[in-house]
Amino acid sequence: MVVLEVVLGLAFGLLIIFGGLLRWNEVRYRKKGLPPGTMGWPVFGETTEFLKQGPNFMKNQRARYGNLFKTHILGSPTVVCMDPELNRYILMNEGKGLVPGYPQSMQDLMGKWNISAVHGSLHKSMRRAMLRLIGPNMIKDQLISEIDEFLRSYLSNWSGKVIDIQEKTKELWCLSALQQIAGIETGPLANELKSEIMNLVLGTLSLPINFPGTNYHRGIQARRKIVSILEKLIKERVASPCSLNYMLDSLLRNDDDAKQKLNDEQIIDLVITVVYSGFETVSTTSMMAVKYLSEHPRALEELRNEQFDIREGKSPKDMLKWNDYKSMIFTRAVIFETLRLATVVNGVLRRTTQDMEMKGCIIPKGWRIYVYTREINYDSFMYPEPLAFNPWRWLDKNLESHQYFLAFGGGGRLCPGKELGIVEIAMFLHHFVTKYRWEEVGGDRLLKFPRVEAPNGLHIRIWDY
Ligand code: HEM
Repeated sequence: MVVLEVVLGLAFGLLIIFGGLLRWNEVRYRKKGLPPGTMGWPVFGETTEFLKQGPNFMKNQRARYGNLFKTHILGSPTVVCMDPELNRYILMNEGKGLVPGYPQSMQDLMGKWNISAVHGSLHKSMRRAMLRLIGPNMIKDQLISEIDEFLRSYLSNWSGKVIDIQEKTKELWCLSALQQIAGIETGPLANELKSEIMNLVLGTLSLPINFPGTNYHRGIQARRKIVSILEKLIKERVASPCSLNYMLDSLLRNDDDAKQKLNDEQIIDLVITVVYSGFETVSTTSMMAVKYLSEHPRALEELRNEQFDIREGKSPKDMLKWNDYKSMIFTRAVIFETLRLATVVNGVLRRTTQDMEMKGCIIPKGWRIYVYTREINYDSFMYPEPLAFNPWRWLDKNLESHQYFLAFGGGGRLCPGKELGIVEIAMFLHHFVTKYRWEEVGGDRLLKFPRVEAPNGLHIRIWDY
């Protein structure tokens, strides 16, 4: 009897404690004018529900609270915005105090000088440096031939094999970035950097708890190694300058005579940002394009015809040129449809630097805003039959520049690697479909949230075309 009373007492006590804990965040963040929503547990908030249920969590909360609701995720009070017009306004108005607001883990691993951590004139200098390194002129004059050469060698000897296209596209775009940045050829140094970069990427979406065994800890260690390798490389390049025009050398020479010359620490963070920002988005889109094309033979046929037309009149050794890329109209449409349907980027994060009013609600200073753009990708008004893979819809040019298409962000933070990313995926598809045919081995699972990935890989069997 006494035991039963103790157990009941304990259960009651725990109930009160849990109830109190669950109310804690609600009370802490109860302020007049805040958007509606729930805040979950202290510290963890609703992170578990958010990561587990992903888009369904967003949909359910929207159904209850509307397009603008509050929550507590990834360690911070956050307002989720699913209103297309407001999302666009937020991206266009950094100057009004809506600065990038990425999680602590990402800031720690990318470095304090990474482009999303800097604002104002330094941000402008970094963007200018970046656009000079990866913008259309550089693509035309240099990068397109480097990428072409790299793809030819990387995509050779795949016939007769079963490969994991996820692993291959990740490795491909990571190694290609290292080549573009500093001319690092495939070999032991590139392989070491590649595995450290993979660890760094994994750590960027983790709780910032620096404890052995956590992704964050592995990420921090990876960053240390990458920084030390880059420091050594910079010393070597300063001692004996490289005559070739790799990104690193161009930054060290300060080619554009920037008033605000970047120091070594800033150059290192910029290099890490270029590798990080480019390689995951481009590799995921390459993988998903292969997947959608294998499921849609008519689209594959049209894309293949376009690519064979481009090869007509060229010898097998002839490189692709800028004009060839510009004529890949259908291939570009496939890339945009892949970005949309797979939602490679489901949103971007901002932070308020002062109290702000939006749609009649107050967003307090220091809160995050999750500019959630995923839902608009499936809007049936903008994209009739939104769940169908239909690249032809992009042949109407206006769709690409539609004000609510935000796969590359918008405003002053619009992706500076947009054109390069499209060029890379288009060139990959060119070599892949003109060289090979393939089929999925089957049975592989795909996750779409928080990042698009195949947890056990995406295996395909390959033959010569
Ligand atoms: C399919 C490919 C790509 C997609 C979908 C994509 C998407 C995005 C998005 C949505 C943003 C905005 C982030 C924000 O507003 O906070 C962004 C920014 C950025 N992207 Fe990309 N990106 C791609 C390829 C690349 C490539 C290839 C590079 C570099 C080689 C790159 C470098 C960057 C950088 C440096 C920023 C930050 C710009 C700033 O803060 O001013 N991206 N990208």
